[in-house]
Amino acid sequence: MSIHPVLNKKHFAKRRKRVLAALGEQAVAIIPAASEQLRNRDTHFPFRQASDFRYLTGFDEPDAFLVLVPKHELGSCILFVRPRDAAREQWEGRRAGVAGALKLYGVDQAFTLDEMDAKLPELLAGREQVFAPLGEDMGFAQRLFGWLVAVRRLQRTGVKAPGTWQDSSQLLHEMRLFKDEDELQVLREACRISELGHVAAMRACRPGAAEYALEAELLHTFRQHGGETAFPSIVAGGQNACILHYTENRDRLKKGELVLVDAGCEWGGYCGDISRTYPVSGRFSSAQRDVYSVVLAAQQAAIDAVRPGASYDQPHQAAVQVLTEGLVDLKLLKGKVSKLIEKEAYKRFYMHRTGHWLGMDTHDVGNYKVDGAWRPLEPGMVLTVEPGLYIDAGRDVPKELRNMGIRIEDDVLVTREGSEVLTAAAPKTIEALEECVPNE
Ligand code: GLY
Ligand code: MN
Ligand code: MN
Repeated sequence: MSIHPVLNKKHFAKRRKRVLAALGEQAVAIIPAASEQLRNRDTHFPFRQASDFRYLTGFDEPDAFLVLVPKHELGSCILFVRPRDAAREQWEGRRAGVAGALKLYGVDQAFTLDEMDAKLPELLAGREQVFAPLGEDMGFAQRLFGWLVAVRRLQRTGVKAPGTWQDSSQLLHEMRLFKDEDELQVLREACRISELGHVAAMRACRPGAAEYALEAELLHTFRQHGGETAFPSIVAGGQNACILHYTENRDRLKKGELVLVDAGCEWGGYCGDISRTYPVSGRFSSAQRDVYSVVLAAQQAAIDAVRPGASYDQPHQAAVQVLTEGLVDLKLLKGKVSKLIEKEAYKRFYMHRTGHWLGMDTHDVGNYKVDGAWRPLEPGMVLTVEPGLYIDAGRDVPKELRNMGIRIEDDVLVTREGSEVLTAAAPKTIEALEECVPNE
């Protein structure tokens, strides 16, 4: 059995080794897996592993824990897993158990979960710092506290108890922010399937189709390629596109309107995230063309600003500049562009930022600022570039522009030379979209 479609146990061991080196010999890290979440009554949401835990183990079962204890006599990398259980496995699915954890995942030691309360005080004894995710899960915090109390009780026997807790996020998330070649291979596939999903949705688009019919094309494509949706897809016809996170997807698409589709495939634990906006009947009206051209130019300016050394904020500033100029040309704003930007007048029509980090989580981890300043972009970072315009129905808005929502989103890798758009195959120019979407 392979544990990942691209990565093998050596990849995960390499990551753990980096963490062990960063911890030093005085620390221990405890990283929990996700638990199953109840959806309703006795039905659960599809299980999704905690990204930090999967990043370090590749292990995709719930409720496990990874404990990293540099140079401990039991081993440095220890997994606590659910025990084998023939009856439960017949109902709920296979478990690796202790033997599987050792053989398939390459850790030094494995124990069952019911051994945790006995083993943890032993693993914490003599260490100064505990790294763990703090402030995320009350249940985990309580257990962690319990283990610390247990090791403190041993103090009279000469055992030193850890005195500091540290959030493990800082260390792990800085690692996850930079994607290596193996991760990029996985991410490229997630992006490729996301592109295919968008093209399938475009081809299925026609007046009278339900928004969910386009969503179905996306989901079908993702599943056909062994992926799943990275987040609830947005298929927003007409004025629904002005609701930024519209996910009802129940209306019918109307001739003459645009549809905004924001969807991405998660494959091998990495997420694509693409938005495209196109005319339901396959031909842009002249007003739609004008607004679309502004957003497209803003997106290109933002992509051009992605290069090593540029600050994280530069693509956003580039997009805001072009969008504000466009809003003046479209007569949606009046005044001097520099003043309008200073007053943030564009926020009436562009109220979100231009992107986010992308990786195992759609809104991926990693700090955007360091010491209060936007951090410089560096090779290996991946971010989305997703400007938009959302025009309300105000009386001061020309009629033909009212209720129009447009967003264009691509996934961009910072390279040594500049940048690479990972989602460039999804049609985006007016010509390419009119070619792909059926017209009457
Ligand atoms: N799909 C969510 C986002 O674009 O941020
Ligand atoms: Mn998106
Ligand atoms: Mn996004």
